[in-house]
Amino acid sequence: MNQAFGYNNINLPVIKSSSSLQEIIFEWKNEGLRIGFVPTMGALHEGHLSLVKLSLENAHRCIVSIFVNPSQFAPNEDFNSYPRDIQGDLYKLQSSGAHLVYTPDENEIYPDGIQTGIMPGKEAQGLETDFRPNFFNGVVNVVYRLFEHIKPDIAIFGEKDFQQLQVISEMVKDLDLDIEILGAPIIRDKYGLAMSSRNTYLSSEELVIARRLNKIIYKTAQNISDGMTVEKAINDAKVLLLEANFDKIDYVEERWNKLITAVWVGKTRLIDNC
Ligand code: PAJ
Repeated sequence: MNQAFGYNNINLPVIKSSSSLQEIIFEWKNEGLRIGFVPTMGALHEGHLSLVKLSLENAHRCIVSIFVNPSQFAPNEDFNSYPRDIQGDLYKLQSSGAHLVYTPDENEIYPDGIQTGIMPGKEAQGLETDFRPNFFNGVVNVVYRLFEHIKPDIAIFGEKDFQQLQVISEMVKDLDLDIEILGAPIIRDKYGLAMSSRNTYLSSEELVIARRLNKIIYKTAQNISDGMTVEKAINDAKVLLLEANFDKIDYVEERWNKLITAVWVGKTRLIDNC
């Protein structure tokens, strides 16, 4: 079935239609297997693969979806240039032990004429939403559709996108979905930079700047636990970020007992938390 799509040396099932997917999942469920699900937008790195590993530790089968979801990008954002490397992704997933890859076409997720959708809840307020007002709307709708197609027992989301993890957990609770959401720790490079598909946008000079982000937020968190007021620590962090040559600070805030930030280096937006 994969040869038809022209993938080389891939034995891992790569499924495009939700009806073929349903058949396989139906069999797995009949065998009493627990299904784990890792949603992604591809351009996979070690952060994504750590989610696959956590899924395999908690369920018998791991399904990974790769779908660059147009509805979570604003018109001025990087949907068209978002990195895509399906062949590379499939190699990585095959060695990671994933059992199936779901690569739906856009009309599988958003059939012609679809009108009905869901709204993100209160966890979506502020932070990302102040800068990307429709982002979580796109995220909850695509994740809900993927959950409908896969009906997983568990689904794994990275703590790197901490607000996304909260928004999805709230969605599952509010809609009473029978899915357990697991958060996975942030995977960083050896300089502490949180891995991200968008890091490939960074020039070598920008990479040097980007690698300062985690140091500054860890220092800020340390200052707060040493007794500095949150307000002063965050103001200091903003000064340090500008001194470190970040071009723009979207936010540095404390929420969920974490320090959460989004900043720009050139045309690349980085998010991180600790
Ligand atoms: P994407 O950015 O591809 O991320 C897929 C998953 O990988 C998310 O749960 C994200 O938090 C996690 N992840 C990314 N980098 C990570 C890192 N360095 N360490 C740990 N986990 C990491 O997030 C999305 O896609 C989309 O919004 C999606 C949920 C797929 C909906 O379209």
